[in-house]
Order: sequence, then C-alpha cells, then structure tokens
Amino acid sequence: MTAIEDGSSTTGSGEKNVDSCGPSAPSAEGRLQDVAEAKANGIGEVRPHVNRLSYSGKTILAPMVRVGTLPMRLLALEFGADIVYSEELIDWKLLRSFRRVNEVLGTIDFVDETDGTIVFRTCAREREQVVLQMGTSDPQRALKAGKLVENDVAGIDINMGCPKEFSVKGGMGVALMADLAKAKNILRTLVNGLRCPVTCKVRVLSDIDATVAVCQSLAETGISAIGVHGRTRDERPQHSNRNHYIKAVAKALSIPVIANGGSKEIECFEDIGKFCTETGCSSVMIARAAEWNVSIFRRNGRLPLDEVIKKYLVLSVDFDNNGSNTKYCVQNMLRELQETPRGKLFLEAQTLEQICAIWDLGDYCRKRQLEFKASGLLGRREVCPQVLRQESSDIQSPLKKMKFDDHCPPDDIVTMKVAYLRSLYPSDNDLPKTRVLAWSRSQKLGMPVYKTVQEGKLFQSVLTLSGKQYTSSMWEKNKRWAEQGAALVCLCSVGQVDLATLKADGSIL
Ligand SMILES: Cc1cc2nc3c(=O)[nH]c(=O)nc-3n(C[C@H](O)[C@H](O)[C@H](O)COP(=O)(O)O)c2cc1C
Repeated sequence: MTAIEDGSSTTGSGEKNVDSCGPSAPSAEGRLQDVAEAKANGIGEVRPHVNRLSYSGKTILAPMVRVGTLPMRLLALEFGADIVYSEELIDWKLLRSFRRVNEVLGTIDFVDETDGTIVFRTCAREREQVVLQMGTSDPQRALKAGKLVENDVAGIDINMGCPKEFSVKGGMGVALMADLAKAKNILRTLVNGLRCPVTCKVRVLSDIDATVAVCQSLAETGISAIGVHGRTRDERPQHSNRNHYIKAVAKALSIPVIANGGSKEIECFEDIGKFCTETGCSSVMIARAAEWNVSIFRRNGRLPLDEVIKKYLVLSVDFDNNGSNTKYCVQNMLRELQETPRGKLFLEAQTLEQICAIWDLGDYCRKRQLEFKASGLLGRREVCPQVLRQESSDIQSPLKKMKFDDHCPPDDIVTMKVAYLRSLYPSDNDLPKTRVLAWSRSQKLGMPVYKTVQEGKLFQSVLTLSGKQYTSSMWEKNKRWAEQGAALVCLCSVGQVDLATLKADGSIL
C-alpha cells in the first residue's frame, strides 16, 4: 500500500432522420443465446484458423484510434466489410496486459494489469476477419506482443504511417519509413515468428519513385499485403489523395496493395469501386467515411444515421463497451448534428446508460448491465488490484511486488460501491467534497480528512469525519475521483444524498 496523501483537503477542485425506424433492442434472451453459442463453440479455446486471411478484393475498415473498438468492428462486418482493423495498439501496452476469457460477454479480453482497462477486446464473430494494428519500434518487443494475440486475430499490421508526435518521437509510425532497415527488421521478425499473416500500412513519400522503391523493399520481407495512404507525412486530410502514387505501387508489387485515403470522395458504396479503379488496387481501406457512417459498407446503400447509432449502441451495451469510448464514436457520427437539441443532450451524457437513453435504449442498457452484474461480469466497477494481481501471470508486474495486507476496508468503515461520475457535478459547488465540507462546517464537525491509497494505477480513498470513516469500494483511476467517491458515500450515509438518486443517476448500479 502506498499512502499518497494523509491530511485534510478541502474541495477537489442529430436530428436528421431522428424518427427513422431504428432497430429495436434485441431480446436479452437472444443475446444470452449468442453467448451460450459462443461458449458451445469453445470461446477462448485456441484453434487453428479456418483459412489464412486473404487481402485481395477486400473492403476494409481502416485502423482508427478509439473508433476501431469491438462494437464498431462488429457493425462494419454486419454491414459488409470483409476485414476490420483494430485501433493502433502500442506493443508495450499489449505486453502489460493479460489474456482473460470473458464468459459473460463471450469475448477474449486483454486486460491492462495496472488498472484493469480493456486494452483489446475481441470475439469469435470477428476472429477470421480482425487485424490487430500494432505500433512498435522494436522487433523483439513486437514479436512478443504479436505472440500474445496471434491466436485470437486473423492478422497483424504494423503502423508505419502515423505522423503524430507521440509515435514519431518513439521511433514508431511514420518514423519507420525513415529507417527502412529497422522497419524491415520488424516485419521480417514478425513474418518469421508469427503464425498469422503480417502486413504494414504506410504513407506515400513526396517522390513517386521513392514511394514505389520503399514499398517494394518492404514487400521483400514476406508481408502478405501493404496498405498505402496516398498522403505524405506532412499532408493533412484536406489535401487531395495521391491516387496515382498508390496505382504505381500496385503496379510494381506482386502482393495485394490496399488503397487508402479516399474518404473525401466516398459517399456511397459505388464510390468504393471508383476508388479501387483509380488506384489500380483490388482492396480498399476506409477510415473517415466509416467513422461518420459505418453503413458505408452496405451494398444496398447507407442507412439513416439514427439507425446506425442505435445498432452501434446495442453492440456497445452487449459488449460492455466503455462509456467514454462509445460517446467519442457517436460524437464522430453526429458531427454538426451535435448542435441540435438532441446533440446537446448527448454532449451532457456521460454514462453508457445516459447515452442510450437519448436513443430510447436506456432501459435496455440498464437491464443488460444488471444481467452482466448478476452473471459476475468483471467490468470497470469490479476492477481492483487484488483481482488483477491474481489473474496476471506476468511475474514482472509491479502489482505483484506490492504487499496486500490492509486493503479490505475494516467493518467499521461505511462502505458502498459508488462511482464518481464527473458530469453529474457541473459546478465546483456541487462536488461531493465541497458538499461534505459545507455540511461538516454547518454541523461543527471539524475538517474532513482524506487518506488515499494507490496501487498500480488504481486509487481508493477513506474519508474520516468526526471519528467516522467512509469509503467507496470502487477503485478509481485517480486520487481526486477516489476522494469524491468517498465523499459521496459520506453524504449518502448522513442523509445528504438520497440512495435512490445515486441509483437513478448511475453512480450505483
Ligand atoms: C479518428 C482517426 C483515427 C485514426 N487512427 C489510425 C490508427 O490508429 N492507425 C493508422 O494507421 N491510421 C489511423 N488513422 C488514419 C486512417 O487509417 C487513414 O489512413 C486516413 O484517415 C485516410 O483514410 P480515409 O481517407 O479513408 O479517412 C486514423 C484516422 C482517423 C480519422
């Protein structure tokens, strides 16, 4: 246990097509059947792939940070995508995770052993079609991370196109295009060491011949395909895509070349074909057009946005997707519709249930969450160092080195499992800590004292006030939230906050 503070502290400081016929919430029985089927099919078992993934003639959901999580990938597949890429996952983050078979959801989870975050969640439905994109700058680290996931995915892709400072400074992404020897070493190591196909995704260089030469050189490593985004590292989405560069690469290489960068011109399914023709590729990878409306993959035309959002939310609920990730994705679908009354309501929502309620799926969400809880789902609210420590098999885990002797709150501490949901407290005066302080002053009880423990990246706080102690048994991701959680328990315990209110607003499940 690491006590990081001991002392008193004061305050912590779409209306378009709205009424279109969206999908109704599926019956919980139907979903449970799906999970039962997944179990019967041996969820979690390591089995050989039916076929090695082919990258020819494919329509592909491009890798997109935060967008390419499980619900979006499954929806893309439902709408007709052939292959779906995960968001970029950094090798060391994968290596910091352990594999957990999630019997309740029917998924395989890679769980961050320091804070319980789901680094990568996948399921049997996508196993033959999902490509995990990795960010790396080191062949052996990439191999180790690849080995961890290779049986659960259809392919592994190395990101060699990301121009973001974080990637480039770490020698990842587009930095690898400037260090061809290292890039090839990574690819060769993975091709030789992994059972699944390996690919990479690059950006074009400003010179067309140099672009072709680099791609040819990368292809020599034995990769199964190469994705080419037709913009240079300095070009932004508003610049036109250099389709003729991609065409030149496709002409020169014998492996499949996947054309990317055409979203600005892709408004319907037929436009995907046009992009294929223009780039001379048989496969196309789509990012933004899918981010905005993932039904772009439908041969029969895009669906109204509200219908897509509803389907996306149902999948988010069924796979217990993180509320903030769901919000981010829906926000990117709504775009300018965020200005509408419904959009504004959406912006205020924080929990998955609050978001779902806007699309009439609030009851469905709550019902499913309660079912998950009853089935023993280890969700965000159940994350605690003890469980992570037991499940992680990594002997290097920092959590393993810690002593766990005095964590369990003793019986005389008032303990409730309360989540602190920031958006419920718009002004500082509403914050639970502020209210505890005001109340204790009015009652002349002295100063509230918070003591917080940190383990790995998780925090729990105990509030002492007038000889009594209060804590939330939920481990929060930072000290401030942990203190607010403890303050909420105190307010509830002394009758300043109603238990029913905490249940209604999602603080207590
Ligand atoms: C929200 C967002 C996240 C992205 N994240 C990634 C990523 O994780 N890995 C990657 O290689 N490219 C990433 N990209 C780039 C896209 O995969 C793609 O190369 C680019 O958007 C051009 O394709 P488009 O015209 O179809 O949008 C991202 C793009 C967007 C819009």
